[in-house]
Amino acid sequence: MTPPVSIVVGASSGIGESLARRLAAEGGKVALLARRGPEVERIAKEINQQCGATRALGVAHDVTDWSAVDGLWGRVESELGQVDALYYAAGILEPVEGDEFDTAKDKRHFDINTLGSVAWVNAAARRFGPRGAGTIVGISSVAQDRGRIGRPAYNASKAGMDTHLEAVRNRLWRKGVTVTTVRPGFVQTPMTEGVQGMFWVISADRAAELTIAAGRKRKAVTYIPWRWRPMMGVIRSIPSFVFRKLNF
Ligand SMILES: NC(=O)c1ccc[n+]([C@@H]2O[C@H](COP(=O)([O-])OP(=O)(O)OC[C@H]3O[C@@H](n4cnc5c(N)ncnc54)[C@H](OP(=O)(O)O)[C@@H]3O)[C@@H](O)[C@H]2O)c1
Repeated sequence: MTPPVSIVVGASSGIGESLARRLAAEGGKVALLARRGPEVERIAKEINQQCGATRALGVAHDVTDWSAVDGLWGRVESELGQVDALYYAAGILEPVEGDEFDTAKDKRHFDINTLGSVAWVNAAARRFGPRGAGTIVGISSVAQDRGRIGRPAYNASKAGMDTHLEAVRNRLWRKGVTVTTVRPGFVQTPMTEGVQGMFWVISADRAAELTIAAGRKRKAVTYIPWRWRPMMGVIRSIPSFVFRKLNF
């Protein structure tokens, strides 16, 4: 049987790196993309040494360069074979001061968290739709569920990504293409290093395991771990006039 081929965008650390390692360990082939080229190349080399075969390819890519996506997709297919699954894990979460309203910083969140996802998801949709097969998994966040005082652009950029994924899912589901939105709670990764007050924290590897399982079960939206679903149900139901008085 031909090994399944996946692209993981944002694979130089955290959840994306764990996704790539897991997909290869299961026997699949995987392309790892991120800005830090030497890092994805190092991880790919390590995977290939562990597997004793060429299963991984590391490619430097900045998702803000969305015009490069089609060329990269072609390169991955020429080196690894036809792509079966896309995992979009790239994202940033920059600290924001209480009195800060910085448009350049906010734009970076939309460029990477939202538009980068749109570009890669569209590229996958153009190929998977006509084929009537394929899996697209986007890592959103529980943070997309409400606009909070701490990180306005992160919340909004993830909400944009999340809604785009829903729309693409509604367009492609009937053709047999899976589009899964994953909303993690707190995950121990470089992104959350030093973040205070985290709870229900899971490892990047556990997050990757739950993410892969959700795509394979053809879930539409999944909270990881599952206990975030009822929690976010409560948070979403808090009326705005109460929510604006809360400190989170
Ligand atoms: N950790 C959490 O608690 C948590 C919770 C909910 C959702 N998430 C989401 O999970 C995803 C993975 O985050 P993580 O926690 O694993 O953090 P991470 O270790 O910081 O990983 C983020 C990944 O995104 C890549 N990336 C950032 N900007 C990029 C760009 N311009 N072009 C290409 N790649 C870019 C980074 O690689 P380079 O820097 O090398 O480009 C890195 O590989 C993110 O979308 C994040 O929002 C995380």
